[in-house]
Amino acid sequence: MSSIETVGIIGAGQMGGGIAHVCALAGYQVLLYDISGERIEKGIATISGNMARQVASGKLEDKVRQEAVGRIAKASELSDLSAADLVIEAATEDEATKRKIYAQLCPLLNPEAILATNTSSISITRLAAQTDRPERFIGIHFMNPVPVMNLVELVRGIATEDHTFEAAKGFVASLHKTLTVSEDFPAFIVNRILLPMINEAIYTLYEGVGTVEAIDTAMKLGANHPMGPLQLADFIGLDTCLSIMQVLHDGLSDSKYRPCPLLVKYVEAGWLGRKTNRGFYDYR
Ligand code: CAA
Repeated sequence: MSSIETVGIIGAGQMGGGIAHVCALAGYQVLLYDISGERIEKGIATISGNMARQVASGKLEDKVRQEAVGRIAKASELSDLSAADLVIEAATEDEATKRKIYAQLCPLLNPEAILATNTSSISITRLAAQTDRPERFIGIHFMNPVPVMNLVELVRGIATEDHTFEAAKGFVASLHKTLTVSEDFPAFIVNRILLPMINEAIYTLYEGVGTVEAIDTAMKLGANHPMGPLQLADFIGLDTCLSIMQVLHDGLSDSKYRPCPLLVKYVEAGWLGRKTNRGFYDYR
């Protein structure tokens, strides 16, 4: 078990909010940061609502929910994260954005703090090199929806020290999640396998092999997937799906990872899936 007591989280969206949810339930003090107070408040309201679902289905006592929500504090400034023993960056899947955050954040952090990224595809070694603490930098990759999905991928960069790795392992265990260790290759294990399948489903639509409904029904009933690949793409966010395919395509230089032109077009249209109310499905 590590000496982590306070966890700072950057990003109060789908992933950051989910990470805050499980950290607070595990007893950590959580400092939740985003670029506006409004986003943080929305994030906390979503967490509270998701915990209420767990109360409704008998998985959680309401008292526990209230205590957990009470452990989540708003971090209006990045400097508020100076009290954290571990900071998990769960910002947009865009390297330039992450780099900018690290440049502002690192001088404000406790020098001993571990900095982790929830990146789903970008090189941990390269991100670590943008920080002042490559030896205390690690990939802790959660799956969406975080409160429901049991897996966490741990990814060491070339400079990650054993102490950091062990602390991250202890932290993941304390969340009652199962961890797998992935080497630092583009998109690690889960997204190296999952995203080409989703991309192929989009090609299947693009080439007219089947309709959206046919493709999703085929994979749900034919392969026992809980969601069809197009529904899952909307759930993950089509911009994130495209970013991951680009990382795979650039990093592995193989045409089999070429993002489907239809995926590119949807992202260019701003049809990003559930979060914009339009993707392969219409949520309006
Ligand atoms: N917080 C808390 N509980 C939640 C929740 C959330 N955000 N979302 C769903 N749940 C709970 C529900 O309350 C429900 O609980 P009960 O069974 O106790 O009632 C349970 O989860 C199932 O939810 P639903 O009944 O609403 O719907 P469902 O049965 O269709 O399940 C799902 C929803 C869990 C999302 C399921 O469809 C699923 O597993 N889909 C695949 C998800 C997946 O593949 N995730 C990985 C994405 S890839 C990734 O994350 C990596 C990356 O970097 C891109």
